Amino acid sequence: MIKNITCIGAGYVGGPTMAVMALKNPHIKFHVVDINQSRIDAWMSDELPIYEPGLFEVVQQARGKNLFFSTDVEGAIKEGDMIFISVNTPTKKYGIGKGRAADLKYVELCARQIAEYADDDKIVVEKSTLPVRTAQSIKKILSATGHGPKFQVLSNPEFLAEGTAVEDLMQADRVLIGGDQDEAGLAAIEELVKVYNAWIPRERIITTNIWSSELSKLTANAFLAQRISSINAISALCEATGADVEEVAHAIGTDSRIGPKFLKSSVGFGGSCFQKDILNLVYLCEFFGLHEVARYWEQVVTMNDYQKSRFGSKIISTLFNTVSGKKIAFLGWAFKKDTNDTRESASIYVADQLLNDEASISVYDPQVPEQQMYLDMEELETRPMEVNKQRLTMTDDAYEACKDAHAIAVMTEWDEFKTLDWQRIYDNMKKPAFLFDGRLILDRKKLSDIGFEVYTIGKGK
Ligand code: UDX
Ligand code: ADP
Repeated sequence: MIKNITCIGAGYVGGPTMAVMALKNPHIKFHVVDINQSRIDAWMSDELPIYEPGLFEVVQQARGKNLFFSTDVEGAIKEGDMIFISVNTPTKKYGIGKGRAADLKYVELCARQIAEYADDDKIVVEKSTLPVRTAQSIKKILSATGHGPKFQVLSNPEFLAEGTAVEDLMQADRVLIGGDQDEAGLAAIEELVKVYNAWIPRERIITTNIWSSELSKLTANAFLAQRISSINAISALCEATGADVEEVAHAIGTDSRIGPKFLKSSVGFGGSCFQKDILNLVYLCEFFGLHEVARYWEQVVTMNDYQKSRFGSKIISTLFNTVSGKKIAFLGWAFKKDTNDTRESASIYVADQLLNDEASISVYDPQVPEQQMYLDMEELETRPMEVNKQRLTMTDDAYEACKDAHAIAVMTEWDEFKTLDWQRIYDNMKKPAFLFDGRLILDRKKLSDIGFEVYTIGKGK
């Protein structure tokens, strides 16, 4: 019987997942630990470190009852019967596999800590998105450095999308659990099945061998990203031919074999998963000598890079081939609406492109703090921080961001952008007032009637 569950890593994945599990399993004690003290402090406060609709309510109900947050990694490892690893796995920034392979140093460190502190048998669950066969490495570390206890390693990839994490957890299409197919492995799988079965019907809990589970996660994200890159490829063709990408998406989406979801053309997909997972897949294929397969998937990322730079180039060419000294307003910095996460957001790359052409950019985003924006730019290492700070600023007011701007670029599909007073914005802009809708959220006709020169992704003149 599982009485205590520990989660190492209190981020976008670990936090919401444990909160929902705790709410649904009041008889189990959940302990979420992180090395980052300020993150833990935030989880215990009224200002959670991550923004997700509905999350605060869930946390409030379970916190202090059977859901606890702390930085006591050692204590949490000792007490947990089941330990989730939910630490970050960014793409490697150095050495072999740079820019492609996942950096597993945090996962490895976690495994070593578990081996060191565990005094009794544990079920270790890999929750972070990981390249296939990571479970093997975790197993090896646990068995080679442990001092007696036995470990079962399970793979339980998350399929929650940011912005809808709580809903995705509550009403999961499916839960996937992979483990060894021997007696001990199957018993461990069954323990985790019970935890989910508290609210997810048994038939939606899929159990597989560990490699299938790991690979399914990468494959699911690769397929989703591929759909976006496919429709984005068509968006460029729509603009050239006069077709309308939304009409095309609707027309093909009504074919039940294709379906309507994930066909929204955009300035490009972002987020912590898609690019990273595809690059992992590419790296894996290369490792096994499957070069054609690697090139095939790599193209999904190439197409996404193209879509971002195509949008930036469109802004520059439309503004009479120069944005030097011109103010461009960005509405949105997050990689999608309803999240404060900015990892791999298209805004970062488009901003970088425009800054290279000496634009000055004023950003408004309802959830992203200014400091995060500068951290994102710093990671690119394109120019000194002082220059970024001079030419890129953030305001907490959309009207202020757009005031005296030569152009506005809609980068994130926040609902509130639809109901802005667009007439007022127009009146306060430089003329001609250009508007670039990279998210297909604005009413093109209405805005043209006001006087804006509107460019919408996937729509010709
Ligand atoms: C994704 C997967 O959906 C989730 O299952 C996985 O566990 C983690 O990765 P997430 O990155 O949170 O989730 O967001 P998602 O909603 O998938 O969007 C990813 C990116 O694609 C965003 O930048 C979004 O704006 C973009 N997108 C999505 C489009 O451009 N068009 C679409 O039709 C859908
Ligand atoms: P994700 O989106 O995968 O949840 P995040 O970066 O939001 O990624 O969260 C990962 C969390 O894991 C971070 O808060 C980080 O501080 C934490 N973390 C990384 N390594 C360790 C470790 N060895 N022990 C405890 N926490 C860790």
